[in-house]
Amino acid sequence: MQIKSNFSLKTYNTFGIDAAAKLFAEVKDLTGLRSVITSLEYQSIPKLILGGGSNILFTGDFEGIVIKIAIKGMELIKEDANHVWVKAGAGEVWHDLVTYCIENNFAGIENLSLIPGLVGAAPIQNIGAYGVELKEVFEELEALSIKDGSMRIFTNSECAFGYRDSIFKNELKNKYVVTSVTLKLNKKPKFNVSYGAIKEALKEMNEAHSPAGRDAQFGRLYRRGYAQELSIRAIGEAVCQIRRSKLPDPAEIGNAGSFFKNPEIDPDVSGSLFLEIKKRYPDIVSYPLRNGNVKIPAGWLVERSGWKGKRIGNTGTYKDHALVLVNYGKATGKEINEAAMKIKDSVKKKFGIVLKNEVNVI
Ligand code: EPU
Repeated sequence: MQIKSNFSLKTYNTFGIDAAAKLFAEVKDLTGLRSVITSLEYQSIPKLILGGGSNILFTGDFEGIVIKIAIKGMELIKEDANHVWVKAGAGEVWHDLVTYCIENNFAGIENLSLIPGLVGAAPIQNIGAYGVELKEVFEELEALSIKDGSMRIFTNSECAFGYRDSIFKNELKNKYVVTSVTLKLNKKPKFNVSYGAIKEALKEMNEAHSPAGRDAQFGRLYRRGYAQELSIRAIGEAVCQIRRSKLPDPAEIGNAGSFFKNPEIDPDVSGSLFLEIKKRYPDIVSYPLRNGNVKIPAGWLVERSGWKGKRIGNTGTYKDHALVLVNYGKATGKEINEAAMKIKDSVKKKFGIVLKNEVNVI
């Protein structure tokens, strides 16, 4: 395997930050990965495991070895009357796995269409969107220990999944490299259209399907003949349409999706904080959670703090979604991070809520 020195990461992170890795290795299989991880030569230098680079912000060069995971493969490994188990290499593109599942009518991840990044990163932060989280379909993963190169299987409960969270962001941070992920999917779909925007998008698709609109935007759906009835394919298309309409495409404008997590407020701990905010802003968007907490969209807080679409030098928040920080082309990671801190400060001043990063700042 070739180890490159002083390697530009510009095309390896969706923010498009021109940081350099002191050393860089792309691993295509377990043997290659194990040899880099266990090599005495690299034992004492920092290691960064890189997937699609879609949830990372480099604020400077990386003075160690960046290991880019390119382990491929997607296969149906088991099935019974109701389920299929699909195993995918950590280096597969997440959306390619979604497409493979939709094409084969394996239901469960259609709501997670078009999430940028690779399969191996999906469990690390328990990716989620439009009413579904990875943990609902996750069976197990295989991972390699950075300490000694041994393999371990992690079951769903061992991953300790939470909202954008898992054991790999806590106790086991930087201790394991995910090499494959196995999902348990349904042969008989249970559609999740709880998210209002999905219902609206499906309705629009059906209207476009009507004879008057059939040659319009969704003519393709009409020709394939699935627009009219609810199917995992239609849900996947609806999710793609929603994401394209409000989230910037990293190929066009650098970004890493939501920069902050949506804060959860515990009414017992924060006393009257939520009620006070609600009194001042009766139109606040909030979701009650099963554990009694209240979730407030960070995008709403950032917008209400005056930042939506605001440009700060080479960075700023996206015009259609205040939670997404963008690189207008020449931003440095430091500049984006400073803008994020400014935004957090003003949200704290205005609402008394401390936003936490969703993106890994390196
Ligand atoms: N909102 C605003 N202003 C904005 C943006 C949002 O007021 O500029 C409010 C709106 O009321 C909107 C609500 O926030 O109804 C929620 O917005 P949206 O549906 O876009 O979802 P989100 O909570 O901002 C989360 C995830 C997204 C995921 C969507 C859809 C987090 C941090 N983000 O965003 O995930 O796609 O839900 O389920 O949980 C990502 O993780 O990178 C990501 C894009």
